[in-house]
Amino acid sequence: MQSKNKKIYNAAITGVGMYVPDKILDNKYFESIVDTNDEWIVSRTGIRERRVMENGATSDMAVYAIQDLFKTTKVKPEEIDVIIVATVTPDMFFPATACLVQEKIGATKAWGFDLSAACSGFLFALQTGASLIESGTYKKVIVVGSDKMTAITDYTDRNNCILFGDAASAVLLEPTEDLNYGIKDSLLYVDGSGKESLYMKGGGSLNPPSHETVDKKMHYIYQDGKAVFKVAVIGMADISFEIMKKNELKSEDVAYLVPHQANLRIIDATAKRMGISKDKVMINIDRYGNTTAATIPSCLTEYYRAGKIKKGDNLILSAFGAGYTWGAIYLTWSLD
Ligand code: UT7
Repeated sequence: MQSKNKKIYNAAITGVGMYVPDKILDNKYFESIVDTNDEWIVSRTGIRERRVMENGATSDMAVYAIQDLFKTTKVKPEEIDVIIVATVTPDMFFPATACLVQEKIGATKAWGFDLSAACSGFLFALQTGASLIESGTYKKVIVVGSDKMTAITDYTDRNNCILFGDAASAVLLEPTEDLNYGIKDSLLYVDGSGKESLYMKGGGSLNPPSHETVDKKMHYIYQDGKAVFKVAVIGMADISFEIMKKNELKSEDVAYLVPHQANLRIIDATAKRMGISKDKVMINIDRYGNTTAATIPSCLTEYYRAGKIKKGDNLILSAFGAGYTWGAIYLTWSLD
């Protein structure tokens, strides 16, 4: 085991992949089912369309994202040591979605688990995976964010139904001895006082499923959007600024902010606080909406494949979500 002060390895992202379902729900569709309009949705959120997984579950999307990752790396499924699935929409309570993914991709030597941290899920899982690599114990860790948000969305609730979509995206973590690259720092927090503002109350041990929980719509996302918006703006902006300060990074040292995609206004406020211009902010909320654990890795995948991220680029990943959970990760990109 390496101590904090004598790091031998950093964990580096050495592969990316993603999956979005084909079916698109645009803002016009929502005009036909609730009292809303395209202008409101775009101006208040930045979202123009989102995807729906019609045939399959969270594990299927995770599998497609990982298979996409395998296509562009030389790694084989049987070489994978660990699979971490960040999700709040597991196929079932148990077994863990990671077990279902392991079997479907044929990762015969892997262990794994699900990690529940809502919109911060990918960051929490990435830090967990990085620690497994830094310990020297594991060489190949897959971190996949996969959420079928449409499975828990109430399509009569105009406040929330317009926000969410389905997607999955995965990264491969491997050790690098060159400490100039890879995951360099993280700041992660939880604060359970946020539990009343964003939750899905039914189905667990507190409110086991019953006719009553169904009648009361307790198996859907509840969000007090205004309350969450206020803390999310402060939380994401502060944490992103804090990790820059801690690592003595100036805005010109940061190639990209990679923010969780919940609301374009939250993203803009975060970039402003960091002193970062809009062209250095990764965005895909317009096309996919809020895909919870898949937002950050899908941005990484799309921007990398578009040739927009270069080896040596410093990235700040940041998120805020239910719990509350929030955090930021600083990494230096290591892929050519
Ligand atoms: O990812 C996890 C963390 N989640 C977040 O970060 C989300 C945080 N919250 C938000 O992004 C925003 O609060 C929302 C996008 C959810 C809502 O935007 P807002 O600017 O905070 O709107 P609001 O809730 O203050 O509502 C303003 C008005 C209300 O009408 P009145 O009361 O002023 O007459 C709402 O009823 O807009 C109304 N409204 C809508 N109008 C048209 C709410 N939803 C809609 C809608 N279409 N879909």
